[in-house]
Amino acid sequence: MISLIMGLPGVGKGTQAELICDEYNIAHLSTGNIFRNTMKGNSVLSKELASYINRGELVPDDLTIKMLKEEISQEKYQSGFLLDGFPRTVEQAKHLNTLLSDMNMKIDNIIFIKLTTEEIMKRLSGRLTCPNCQATYNKYFSQPVEIGICDKCQHQLITREDDNTQSIKKRLSVAKEQTLPVIDYYKEIGKVIEVEALNKSIDKVFSEIKNMVIDQ
Ligand code: AP5
Repeated sequence: MISLIMGLPGVGKGTQAELICDEYNIAHLSTGNIFRNTMKGNSVLSKELASYINRGELVPDDLTIKMLKEEISQEKYQSGFLLDGFPRTVEQAKHLNTLLSDMNMKIDNIIFIKLTTEEIMKRLSGRLTCPNCQATYNKYFSQPVEIGICDKCQHQLITREDDNTQSIKKRLSVAKEQTLPVIDYYKEIGKVIEVEALNKSIDKVFSEIKNMVIDQ
């Protein structure tokens, strides 16, 4: 199965992707996670990625598509995956069509999570991230059992460099301008299932996704 999980920054894509992939044993392919793992090194590429991501800008399409192609060629993705954070531009969506067609695959469903800007600002400003396993927590909504420590791998949690007010605002404006048209592009071919996340717990959103998308 090939699924896409889409939405503005901070709507809960990564949180839901982890739950879906655990429950259904699907590989999770997150371009944000690929970039952050690459940024841990001290290479020229690492610095180039940081120069875009920490400012809240998109990584250019050519570099993003090249890195996605390298990742997707791995064995673990050959029987399907959940794509999180890609495509973010119409150009990327067109490249994805070609890539999947070359792999004899097609998109089965697209989950579009909706949330207000005000709630997104709160969620992202309270987010805590594990730099080791990429699990996420929240100061306001879902603290780990031990403050500041990842429940899954016991690593020290951090606040992502791009989770500052200026970067969050930039990410939101870039996503509204460049990523919402991708949703419209998919709506035209009738594949988008919308999930409203306002005032719903993580479990509630997950259960709605399961009912609306996966178990159909
Ligand atoms: P990426 O990592 O994809 O970041 P993003 O889209 O900005 O999304 P986030 O990770 O910020 O949010 P999310 O929706 O996953 O929310 P989460 O589940 O963490 O990309 C980072 C950067 O990489 C981009 O800005 C760009 O520069 C670059 N990039 C990546 N892909 C690219 C591409 N294709 N092309 C070009 N550049 C690209 O949840 C947020 C918080 O809310 C957490 O604290 C969580 O615990 C909490 N939460 C979740 N659900 C709930 C709930 N129901 N109730 C209460 N709290 C909740």
